[in-house]
Amino acid sequence: MKFFIDTANIEEIKKAVAWGLVDGATTNPSLIAKEGRDFKQVVLEICGLVNGPVSAEVISAEAEQMVVEAKDLAAWHENVIIKAPCTIEGLKAVKKLESLGIKTNVTLVFSANQVLCAAKAGASYISPFVGRLDDAGEDGLKMIEESMRIIKNYGYKSEIIVASIRSPLTVSKAAELGAHVATIPFKIMEQLVKHPLTDVGIK
Ligand code: E4P
Repeated sequence: MKFFIDTANIEEIKKAVAWGLVDGATTNPSLIAKEGRDFKQVVLEICGLVNGPVSAEVISAEAEQMVVEAKDLAAWHENVIIKAPCTIEGLKAVKKLESLGIKTNVTLVFSANQVLCAAKAGASYISPFVGRLDDAGEDGLKMIEESMRIIKNYGYKSEIIVASIRSPLTVSKAAELGAHVATIPFKIMEQLVKHPLTDVGIK
């Protein structure tokens, strides 16, 4: 399973990269805004630290504009991949971008049918949001199970990124289901390695 770090905080990324656990990074407009810094500057710094895909999200609502935005973002650094929402316009943009050789990550995915449509559009990555579904009283991991079955049934090239992770248990459960990637907040990545009995044993 690949681990992406789900943050735009440079200090957190530096620490997690030093642990040797980071295969990529995901940002979104809220995570960038939290840092109160320039979007391009932050993305470029992350690309300099992470040896793998770094998701940067487009904010236009219409496909043509998304493609214009995405081409600009992708030109910033070879690690940048384009996050676009799972809407009809978003998937139109994804199809175009993938045909141009620009990798995409379809985000804000909350159903198995959205996974199917994003895979058909040719997305390199698809991000079902487990935590937000759980928050809404649904079963987020069930969607990961369904997603993996859909991808395998048809041999789609898309990789499933388990997103919106709220607990370490989600990571191991998603790994059991064979999810390709988990994008993990810093605090939870730290928790993955820890167990109280390990600390007791050391003492
Ligand atoms: C990652 O790509 C997502 O933007 C992120 O995991 C969303 O997490 P949240 O539901 O905690 O905002």
